[in-house]
Amino acid sequence: MQKKSIVSNNIKKAIAILSNNDVVAIPTETVYGLAGNIFSQEAILKIYKVKQRPSFNPLIVHVDSIQKATELASSFPEKAKQLANAFWPGSLTLVLNKSDHIPNWITADKETVGIRIPNHPVALALLKELPFPLAAPSANPSNRISPTKSSHVASYFQDSIEMVLEGGECKNGIESTIVGFENNEPVLYRLGSIAIEDIERVIGKIQIKNKKEITPNAPGMLSKHYSPLTKTYLVDNVNEFIKNINGKKIGVLSFNNSKLSVEVDHIEVLSKTGDLSEATAKLYSALHKLDSLNLDIIVSERLPETGLGKSINDRLERAAK
Ligand code: TXA
Ligand code: MG
Repeated sequence: MQKKSIVSNNIKKAIAILSNNDVVAIPTETVYGLAGNIFSQEAILKIYKVKQRPSFNPLIVHVDSIQKATELASSFPEKAKQLANAFWPGSLTLVLNKSDHIPNWITADKETVGIRIPNHPVALALLKELPFPLAAPSANPSNRISPTKSSHVASYFQDSIEMVLEGGECKNGIESTIVGFENNEPVLYRLGSIAIEDIERVIGKIQIKNKKEITPNAPGMLSKHYSPLTKTYLVDNVNEFIKNINGKKIGVLSFNNSKLSVEVDHIEVLSKTGDLSEATAKLYSALHKLDSLNLDIIVSERLPETGLGKSINDRLERAAK
């Protein structure tokens, strides 16, 4: 007998499960998250277990208002306020010194907490109803491709969680941009849905510490991450790379070009018009698709290193490690 789908749009049911120390996958505008009550150690342990996430890697806390976000932090630097006003609700996570009432099981014993107001009507409606904030990492097993559709989550966690709250396809398509503060100066820990250029337009030049080697502060930025199971390559010139490969089933992830000089088994084009926002929104879906086709290799094209192109290249570099 076929199993009943765990995908549902019943917000009341999600509230009941979350209020009962259990987890629900929720939509956001970046990627789906695996959510639990930050004050329930049982729920948080379940998130770590279901995702097989290392215990040293802290979770982001989600709320629906700046007022609630302010209560989670012991201090809110001026530049953090400017960023919050410019981008919340939206795809920005601020890492700030935590208030005393934030449990250590959220922060992996760190003194800081990651905070975000997601810009998704379903997530906001849910957060407004709940008497507690939600911790939510991306709803994928550690190191795998993040989910941008409810079906992606269901295929990962059909047997381990009770519910995915339906919210359609995530319109931004990659994770939030993370900004923290060191000696009161802003530091960008993760490239994401908001381009660096847009962050700098609000607060001026920002230091970038996006690579794990120099970022003990962002433990989640492991060099291998966001990975298909299929061996993946990131190259500057797809035609050059594939012309020397024989006898393999090849899938190609192209920015805007659907015509290759060599025939391949499957090609995913991120944006026919070369639009970086569209390409970002489609990135993970295209990787999920390519990874489902039993190919021998995925060959992915490097995007222009500008705006969201930098964020996409960052994810592709980790996928290809
Ligand atoms: O867009 C997003 O941010 C999604 C949606 C669901 O909100 N969430 C997400 O969470 O991507 P996650 O856990 O997959 O990635 C969060 C990253 C991790 O790399 C973690 O190490 C880092 O944020 N992080 C969380 N709290 C932190 C803290 N206090 N200090 C430094 N890094 C932190
Ligand atoms: Mg993640």
